[in-house]
Amino acid sequence: MAEYIKKEETERQKEYLYKLQEINNAFYARHGRKPLANTETYGCQQNENDTERIRGMLSAAGFGFCDRAEDADLVIYNTCAVRENAEDRVYGRLGILKHIKEQRPDLIIGLCGCMVQQEHIVEKIKQVYNHVDLIFGTHALYKLPELLYEVYKEGKTVIDTESSDGAICEDIPILRDSDSKAWVSIMYGCNNFCTYCIVPYVRGRERSRQPQRILDEIKALAEKGVSEICLLGQNVNSYGKDLEENIDFADLLRMVNDVEGVRRIRFMTSHPKDFGDRLINAMAECTKVCHQLHLPFQAGSDRVLSEMNRKYTKAEYLEKIRRVKEKIPDIALSTDVMVGFPTETNEDFEDTLDVLKQVEFDTIFSFIYSRRKGTPAAKLDFVLTDEEIHKNFDRMLNVQNEISKRKNDTCVGKVYTVLVDGASKNNPEMLSGRTDSSKIVNFKGDASLAGQYVDVKITEAHTWSLNGELV
Ligand code: SAH
Ligand code: SF4
Ligand code: F3S
Repeated sequence: MAEYIKKEETERQKEYLYKLQEINNAFYARHGRKPLANTETYGCQQNENDTERIRGMLSAAGFGFCDRAEDADLVIYNTCAVRENAEDRVYGRLGILKHIKEQRPDLIIGLCGCMVQQEHIVEKIKQVYNHVDLIFGTHALYKLPELLYEVYKEGKTVIDTESSDGAICEDIPILRDSDSKAWVSIMYGCNNFCTYCIVPYVRGRERSRQPQRILDEIKALAEKGVSEICLLGQNVNSYGKDLEENIDFADLLRMVNDVEGVRRIRFMTSHPKDFGDRLINAMAECTKVCHQLHLPFQAGSDRVLSEMNRKYTKAEYLEKIRRVKEKIPDIALSTDVMVGFPTETNEDFEDTLDVLKQVEFDTIFSFIYSRRKGTPAAKLDFVLTDEEIHKNFDRMLNVQNEISKRKNDTCVGKVYTVLVDGASKNNPEMLSGRTDSSKIVNFKGDASLAGQYVDVKITEAHTWSLNGELV
């Protein structure tokens, strides 16, 4: 069973919140404003959810928030280690922050998350980016008040990246991004050790939260008017395996489905090896569970899947998809795919294309393999050149774009219920929201509709989104 952070420890962190408040009150007295924090998130929904907790703690400590590091008194980057480009973006930002800090030495710079849970990265930051004041790993998130207080008091770099399987901390304040949708972590960590992946090393072993705590969180959200819940875990199908209660993810889904006020339930991510009929049935029977499934297949070739330690074959994957489609005919499907895994040949890649063509996903998230230090695949050799890998990647996108567009075309003329997120990112004059199947719909409407469910008739289909008008 997962360990929980003790009450005394969370109380101790609260004491530090009060101490930070005193410091921030003094700041207010000097400057006539609150100190401002700028937070940026790199990485997955788990990290987004962690950033909401960071902002919760900072807000409780008396910080206000700003969108640009240039205006901030405190910057915290919540980093991701899954691919090299995620890490490079952070290094790029740290270079810019160095200049800002030269002009404003009082600026405090903090780095946290998956990237700094790796020793070699912390060494590099200490050597090359010594303007960073605070480094804390994924397991130390709840200690932010204490660590930040030390930075202010000691005026020297504070580092807490102890590796552990991370006891679960339930009592962290949270400041959520949305009033209508919420991420709810149901478990942390991963036991799967796919050979390319760094996540198990930086997030520790699987720990499930107790069902009652999850339900209490969701009930409280629903009472505040949050109606869409996304249950989060690296592999939600493993939920409950480490609990004393005899409960699995399908059971949990049914319990969440019974919470009054919740209207839509989503979840991610499912691992194909553990995905089966129990969950498919729960999805089909729970009226609030969206008809949407994200089921990463990564690669189509059985040989590559085995090298990846994914524990299923192409045929098994396709069979599971067939069963979902049979039970839930209007299911919207998405997946993660990787191109250029070491040892992958052009012939292997044809199998990946074949899965895309057979399944016809609505959307895919596609990645070029990135070597991660310390993972087993890092020792394997490449068969394909960089150029061949990029060519395959482009070919894959072309195949998928055609499928996505064709599927979106079938939506034209139909009416969908959309939960309005707010102004569209690309065009502030339009509203943007999502259907039950998680398709993005842009349409004209009043900003006051944000957070509401409205019916939209689709007038035009693009590859990545739909346009429509209110009915
Ligand atoms: N736990 C989830 C996703 C974790 S990371 C799952 O198992 O599906 C999200 C995606 O990043 C993965 O699905 C994979 O496609 C991709 N990814 C992970 N490690 C990678 C690497 N080293 N290089 C490129 N993509 C990677
Ligand atoms: Fe990484 Fe595999 Fe775990 Fe997903 S299931 S987080 S890809 S090791
Ligand atoms: Fe990245 Fe960590 Fe998520 S490595 S993908 S932020 S779990």
